[in-house]
Amino acid sequence: MRGFENRVAVVTGAGAGLGRSHAIGLAKEGAKVAVTDVSEAAARAVADEINTGGGEAVGLAADVADAAAVARMIDAVTAKWGAVDVLVNNAGILRDKSFGKLEPEDFDLVVKVHLAGSFNCAKAVWGQMRERRYGRILFTSSASGIYGNFGQANYGAAKAGMIGLMNVLHLEGAKYDIRVNTLAPTAATQMTAGLISEQVAAVLAPERPVAHDHGRWRRRVRRFAHHGDRGRVSSRGRTDDRGDHGADCGDFRRRHRASV
Ligand SMILES: NC(=O)c1ccc[n+]([C@@H]2O[C@H](COP(=O)([O-])OP(=O)(O)OC[C@H]3O[C@@H](n4cnc5c(N)ncnc54)[C@H](O)[C@@H]3O)[C@@H](O)[C@H]2O)c1
Repeated sequence: MRGFENRVAVVTGAGAGLGRSHAIGLAKEGAKVAVTDVSEAAARAVADEINTGGGEAVGLAADVADAAAVARMIDAVTAKWGAVDVLVNNAGILRDKSFGKLEPEDFDLVVKVHLAGSFNCAKAVWGQMRERRYGRILFTSSASGIYGNFGQANYGAAKAGMIGLMNVLHLEGAKYDIRVNTLAPTAATQMTAGLISEQVAAVLAPERPVAHDHGRWRRRVRRFAHHGDRGRVSSRGRTDDRGDHGADCGDFRRRHRASV
């Protein structure tokens, strides 16, 4: 039996990049996957790809910053498949500017998509996960939120806020077997285009099955989404396995200067 047989997963921002890779990976493990994105066309294209490959997926439009749209999306998935077991909060954008040039609207928008968007999605599934006493929620943070990165005051603040949200939800969810963790990834996607060298990008394709420590990364995504550690931050690029994001991201920073 595959790891996610009979489980239902919602992946946000799954029309491209890491979200697409998570959605395809979960479907290969047997999950029914709601591929959601602000772009309905992109969501549908990834869902079609999964269905054509023998998996089960639906593509749905939802802007994570819009709480009402998120609630409708979660209701639609629950009506279709009976429950949401796994939520991967992955949707994201960048609006990089040095702090002196950063306008309040650049700050608000990034916080709205990353932090409030993750809140909206977690909030929309929380009640049913509590009732069923099962849930796996992943946030997607960044080394930028843990250590900072030039030009990313908005993004770094939002990404650090997600770790704070995880820290509370993993405590509150524990007795309901709702396990909450955070990924701090690095991948060559449209988001990092121009930020990482071609040489590094070549080993950081989100869908690349074997690269560097990718096997470990894949296992970690699977473990977080399925068996579930609790309240951990994990970044691709780590060399140790201690669940210590300090050591983890130090190593990550040495290897990949650009942190997104
Ligand atoms: N690529 C990296 O190295 C890296 C590093 C650290 C963190 N991250 C985080 O990983 C996540 C995925 O990044 P990626 O590199 O795959 O980016 P990407 O740009 O390839 O994909 C992001 C997806 O999110 C969607 N999206 C944007 N705004 C949305 C919204 N309001 N509602 C729903 N969907 C929305 C986009 O349409 C796109 O399909 C992001 O949260 C990003 O901050 C990425």
